[in-house]
Amino acid sequence: MVSSILITGGCGFVGSNLAFKLKNKYPGTKIIVFDNLMRRGSELNISRLREADIMFIHADVRNKEDFNKIGDIELIIDAAAEPSVLAGVNGSTDYLIHTNFNGTINCLDFAVKNKAAFIFLSTSRVYSIDELERIPFSESKTRFVLNDRKEIHGLSEKGISEDFSTSGYKSLYGASKFCSENFIEEYARSFGLKTIINRCGVLTGPYQYGKVDQGFVVLWVARHLWKQKLSYIGYGGLGKQVRDILHINDLFQLVDFQINNLNSLTGKLFNVGGGSERSVSLCEMTALCEEITGNKIQIDQIAGTRQADIRMYITDNSKVTDVTNWKPVTGVRDVVKDIFAWIKENEDLVKPVLY
Ligand SMILES: NC(=O)c1ccc[n+]([C@@H]2O[C@H](COP(=O)([O-])OP(=O)(O)OC[C@H]3O[C@@H](n4cnc5c(N)ncnc54)[C@H](O)[C@@H]3O)[C@@H](O)[C@H]2O)c1
Repeated sequence: MVSSILITGGCGFVGSNLAFKLKNKYPGTKIIVFDNLMRRGSELNISRLREADIMFIHADVRNKEDFNKIGDIELIIDAAAEPSVLAGVNGSTDYLIHTNFNGTINCLDFAVKNKAAFIFLSTSRVYSIDELERIPFSESKTRFVLNDRKEIHGLSEKGISEDFSTSGYKSLYGASKFCSENFIEEYARSFGLKTIINRCGVLTGPYQYGKVDQGFVVLWVARHLWKQKLSYIGYGGLGKQVRDILHINDLFQLVDFQINNLNSLTGKLFNVGGGSERSVSLCEMTALCEEITGNKIQIDQIAGTRQADIRMYITDNSKVTDVTNWKPVTGVRDVVKDIFAWIKENEDLVKPVLY
């Protein structure tokens, strides 16, 4: 096991969960989290992190000098980002590009300086939106369903593989992460960095401060619990769009394996997600939330589709499973139950952010 880890974005959903789980499993490893607290809710993790003997540094990946606050590091997990697919669509792209792209470059430079390994949380949004939208589909009562998959490269009944097209329009968010991926590969070859890229689909679980444009599972559970309204937005407003979802505990199992196998996994890029067994449509999520919270809420229908939205995304985990033996284990129902339990147990703390 490495002796020191820097997690950028370490007060956020993914970063803080990985920090706690790594510290719990490897108490002797020094873990530093680095975060500018841009995301609402991230500040709530600071005292918990400190109590767990994880060092918090208030710093910004956009500022190269902020990395001077950190000592020697063996591994960087880069989880700092503006993670919304709607980021920048109003015309203000500075924050997105400076954080998601320039920030990653600053992390890479710091990795080179330290000869540290580098694990990147990338996204399924690097794939071509036009090509994803070309996937033939049919409609069941509760969801859109993949049809006739043979004609599209990188698509099978299992979902989207790493061979799917990354050409063309992919959202400003997706493009910012894709540019980072390209530079990670360049840095790996140019400077001998050990790197792993995980292209994740929807990640969720406790300590995610979900909002309308990012983190829909937590948003759905919270709105049902507190009896607030929701909307099905896009694709006719029927709530039939589909995503696979991955519990953060399952992601941790993979990242833990990767940290312990950096030499054999270096240079690898994986699609990582819940897979078809853990896929769910919005209206199926509604039914689950009704059952688990006991509440039924008003859900409006907004037919128009938002920019950069996609009808369906399901991860084909074949490559990551072949190479690492990793498979997700937490089912959709357990993900929802876990989030519900977290919100109930911490209602006073999380309500001001999630409400
Ligand atoms: N959550 C998902 O469904 C999902 C899916 C695919 C990929 N990812 C990727 O995983 C990573 C973590 O996402 P998340 O869900 O934890 O998001 P999050 O918003 O919960 O966490 C990101 C953290 O980064 C911090 N941050 C933002 N800008 C920063 C900056 N300039 N300097 C320092 N810190 C900054 C935020 O304050 C926040 O704490 C991101 O790279 C994201 O692109 C997330």
